[in-house]
Amino acid sequence: MTDNTAKRAVVPPAPTAQDLADAAASQAEPSTQPKNFMSLFRLDGKVGVVTGGARGLGYSMAEGLCSVGLEAIIILDVSTELGLDAAKRLHETYKVKSQFYKTDVRDEVSVNEIMNQIAADFGHIDIVVNSAGVADLVHAEEYPLEKFRRVIDINLNGSFIVTQAASRHMISQGTGGSIVFIASMSGHIVNWPQPQSAYNASKAGVRHLMKSLAAEWAVHKIRCNSISPGYMDTALNRAYKGLFNEWKERTPMGRLGDVDELTAACIYLASDASSFCTGTDMLIDGGYTII
Ligand SMILES: NC(=O)c1ccc[n+]([C@@H]2O[C@H](COP(=O)([O-])OP(=O)(O)OC[C@H]3O[C@@H](n4cnc5c(N)ncnc54)[C@H](O)[C@@H]3O)[C@@H](O)[C@H]2O)c1
Repeated sequence: MTDNTAKRAVVPPAPTAQDLADAAASQAEPSTQPKNFMSLFRLDGKVGVVTGGARGLGYSMAEGLCSVGLEAIIILDVSTELGLDAAKRLHETYKVKSQFYKTDVRDEVSVNEIMNQIAADFGHIDIVVNSAGVADLVHAEEYPLEKFRRVIDINLNGSFIVTQAASRHMISQGTGGSIVFIASMSGHIVNWPQPQSAYNASKAGVRHLMKSLAAEWAVHKIRCNSISPGYMDTALNRAYKGLFNEWKERTPMGRLGDVDELTAACIYLASDASSFCTGTDMLIDGGYTII
């Protein structure tokens, strides 16, 4: 017979007066020197890689990292024209070193070669932002498997391939790093009315992948976190402008997010400002998922 007796919560013995006095005495005196908490957000000397950084949210996040002192920004994207432009503009605007690699995040061999090249050129890789992603709207019963697989392959497997390749350098450097995944509120709830089963499943996978890697790599000082945006006004969504009014009505703030409205969160997660933060997902959705 199995013993199904549930365990009670354990209440520790009440602290004695001496315990309370010792605890108070062990607390460091508050410093009278002003602390500069804003300096924790600086990324001086760091090398950052942003996938899908040629445009949209990825580009804005690349800009954000550059704006707080990043030494070098590397854009990985399938779009050569936009990617080259992005790297050039970041270099000219923020005076950072910049590099563009035409990359399909699904291509394990090429991603590994590129990460090796980045480490050889710049000496280290400190930050990765996984923003490359695609969406399509197809009714589930009609979804061609090849199309379904493509979304999972880019959004989920691609994030893993890039992160794994970068992590090998972060581990061998011994200095750790910060990985920021761009998941989605679609990984928390199912968006409506558009049919997007592959996208929703891929983003739920990204969040759980992030948490799994955070647990495994804390020992290597690699922090993994994600941002889950709501509806943002980017090219990815402008293809479905007919749904904008419905999306706005379903969002308590009554609007879509601006392309720059995730960037401060990305700086926070990439920097020492979030030094005790790993395995966390930040939902930034104008209140959509409150309801
Ligand atoms: N826009 C939104 O409302 C929204 C909401 C939640 C999550 N997201 C996620 O944020 C990320 C960025 O979205 P966005 O709106 O900026 O999209 P976007 O389409 O403007 O940008 C995506 C970028 O990824 C690149 N890309 C696509 N496939 C690639 C591949 N196989 N390899 C390398 N690069 C590839 C594209 O060329 C493009 O530059 C995506 O992961 C998306 O799923 C967006």
